[in-house]
Amino acid sequence: EKGGYDYFMLKEIAEQPKAVADTLLGRIDASGSLTLDEVRIPVAELREVDKVVIVACGTAFHAGLIAKYAIEHWTRIPCEVELASEFRYRDPILAARTLVVAISQSGETMDTLMALRHAREQGSKVLAICNTNGSTIPRESDAVLYTHAGPEVAVASTKAFLTQLVACYLVALYLGQVRGTKWGDEIDAVIRELAQIAGEVEQVLQTMEPVRELARSLADRNTVLFLGRHVGYPVALEGALKLKELAYMHAEGFAAGELKHGPIALIEEGVPVVVVVPSPRGRSVLHDKIVSNIQEIRARGARTIVIAEEGDEAVVPYADHLIRVPATPTLLQPLVATVPLQVFACELATARGNEVDQPRNLAKSVTVE
Ligand code: M6R
Repeated sequence: EKGGYDYFMLKEIAEQPKAVADTLLGRIDASGSLTLDEVRIPVAELREVDKVVIVACGTAFHAGLIAKYAIEHWTRIPCEVELASEFRYRDPILAARTLVVAISQSGETMDTLMALRHAREQGSKVLAICNTNGSTIPRESDAVLYTHAGPEVAVASTKAFLTQLVACYLVALYLGQVRGTKWGDEIDAVIRELAQIAGEVEQVLQTMEPVRELARSLADRNTVLFLGRHVGYPVALEGALKLKELAYMHAEGFAAGELKHGPIALIEEGVPVVVVVPSPRGRSVLHDKIVSNIQEIRARGARTIVIAEEGDEAVVPYADHLIRVPATPTLLQPLVATVPLQVFACELATARGNEVDQPRNLAKSVTVE
C-alpha cells in the first residue's frame, strides 16, 4: 500500500505532480478560460463579493496565506486569512457579500467547521476547498471545489497542500474571470504556466538528493530558521511547521523584513537558516531585499540554505547550500519551493529516528476544538 516507499509521506511527496495535474484537470479549457461548474454560487453573486475571508488550520492555513496574495493581486477584492480557531471568537464582520473560503484536507477539522457555521449564521456564503468527498465541511458549505490529491495518510500534509494551492489559484482566477478584473497578459502567462507546473514539480523531485544529504548533516541540531518575503513568507512558515511536527526541532518561519525587529538576535555561528528567494524577474525589489537579508545573516554566522530559481546568480556568493527550483511567475513559486522543504523535514525525521507517518502527539484530523 506504500507503493514500495518506506513511508506514506514519501509516497505522497512523490505523488505531487499527479495530484497537481488531477486538480487542474478539466478546469481550464484550451482558450484559457475556467469552468468551475462545481462552484454552485451563482455568478451574479460572485460578482457582488466585496470581501473574501479564508479560514483554515495548520498547513491549510498556509495555503490560505498564499491565496491572499493571488486573490488581492488578480481580483483586487480585499482578502483576510484567519486561523479557524481564532475566527469566531473575535466577532468577525461578515455580510452577505463576504465570501468565506474554508480550506481543509480532511473536511472534518472541528475548528474550521465551527468557523464556517459561524459565517453561515451571519449570512455569508461559504466555499469549501476540500480533499475528502462527502465529508462534513463540504456538506455544510454552499459550494465546494474538491482537490484531487487522493487519500493522504501521513499526518504531515504534503500533496494536499500543493493541491490546495492549485485550488486557491483557480478560485482567484475564476473570481477575476467572472468579474472581468485584471484579465491580461499576466493572467494568460499564469494559466500557461499552470499547464506546465506538474512537470516542474517533478523536476524538483528529481533533484532532491543533495537536500536529503544536507538534512542528514543537520540531524544533531536543535534549531532551524526559515525566512521568506511575499509568498515566500508562508512557504517559510510551512517549512518550519513540517520540521516541528516531523523532526521535533525548534523551527520558526519569519518574514525576512522582520529580521531587524527582533529575530536577527537569534542568529549565531552555524545556525542553519533556510531562505526562500523570490524570482529576480518581475518584482525585483523583493529579490534585492532578500539578497541583502541573506548577506546580513551570513555576516553574523548563519549557515545559509538558499532556495532560488534557476539562473538566479545573485544569490550564489551568499549561499552555503543552494537549492534550485524552476523559474515560475512569483505567485506560483510556492508550488515548487515547498517541495524541498517537505523532503528536508522528512529526511531529518528519518535521520533522528522519528516516526515519519505518525509523529508523536498528532492526529491526522483534529475533530475536537
Ligand atoms: O484536514 P485539515 O486540512 O483541515 O487539517 C488542518 C491541519 O490540522 C493540518 O494541515 C496539520 O497542520 C498538518 N498535520 C500539517 O502537516
